Amino acid sequence: MDHAATREEALARIAAAQDLGALEGLRVEFLGKQGSISGLLKTLGAMSPDERQVAGPQIHALREAVTEALGARKAALESAALEAQLASETIDLSLPAPEAPRGTIHPVSQVMDELAEIFADMGFAVATGPEIEDDWHNFTALNIPESHPARAMHDTFYFPDKDGQGRDMLLRTHTSPVQIRAMLQQGAPIRIIAPGRVYRSDSDATHTPMFHQVEGLVIDKGITLGHLKWTLETFLKAYFEREDIVLRLRPSYFPFTEPSVEVDVGFALVSGPDGKSRRVLGGSGDDPGHGWMELLGSGMVNRKVIAAGGLDPDEWQGFAFGVGVDRLAMLKYGMDDLRAFFDGDVRWLAHYGFSPLDVPTLSAGVGARA
Ligand code: DAH
Repeated sequence: MDHAATREEALARIAAAQDLGALEGLRVEFLGKQGSISGLLKTLGAMSPDERQVAGPQIHALREAVTEALGARKAALESAALEAQLASETIDLSLPAPEAPRGTIHPVSQVMDELAEIFADMGFAVATGPEIEDDWHNFTALNIPESHPARAMHDTFYFPDKDGQGRDMLLRTHTSPVQIRAMLQQGAPIRIIAPGRVYRSDSDATHTPMFHQVEGLVIDKGITLGHLKWTLETFLKAYFEREDIVLRLRPSYFPFTEPSVEVDVGFALVSGPDGKSRRVLGGSGDDPGHGWMELLGSGMVNRKVIAAGGLDPDEWQGFAFGVGVDRLAMLKYGMDDLRAFFDGDVRWLAHYGFSPLDVPTLSAGVGARA
């Protein structure tokens, strides 16, 4: 018996199979338990040895040819399927990124990153403290005893319950308590800035119940007001990216510093395109067309505060300063209403926010916009 016709037909049908499912159907039809070629193999048993010697190799050759054709067709169908998938799923990496809605970095975050970058260059580390504070860290240790009027001036948000040590708990009203925590935790010398949220019960165009400050603290030996002035000048020149920033130190009072100084920065009155005059930082406030703007509080750390931090004030001295981060952002980037900082309006964020790729570096300019 010649199996040439069977073979031709099988190979033709295999070659015509259009998908893997159809091909599997053919495999079962030919080679499955009940398959036609399997059936032929079973006939060998009933043959005489002579018949079998002729028919055996033919049937085996048929099975081999069909098996091989099935395998080849399967490989061809699989690679065609892969080609089709690759063709339909191309990614052109040279295309620009899609115009999907993208978030921005909030100016407060950006400014805090700028501050960290500027102060890191002067050897300052970034320290943090809790926003839920006790009144000892927030007030007492900073030389603001219970009866002190400064406590009332801070418009403090208190919690109804005291902590385990009987201390009143509150939302910190300033970042100054981080001074105490840093001294107690790390001893001296210290060079830190402590940026973060602070809270006061106050609300208008320039005050929000939550706002941001950055505290600075240097504790070392032989520290003077000169170090303070140089540090603030270097910081403000780098931050505002102007060499002509001029500072004026005015005697002031803070319980935690002695002496205390209020730092003013000189500005020029410049009339803008809308006819309104704007304040542009730079130059001496005493020059014609100029003025002084109060910017931050600072001073030499009070001996009592150094002692509260667990250090010997005869051995260690230092300076501290505190400045509003939101205020710094407004002065540099031109917003005029503080409340909008915390509205979460995406139009405001799209306008005033920063690209995530715009990482502040001293070499590229800490405030460079992409
Ligand atoms: N803690 C002060 C405030 O919130 C700001 C301040 C003033 C911080 C003078 C200081 C400082 O470290 O020396 O208003």
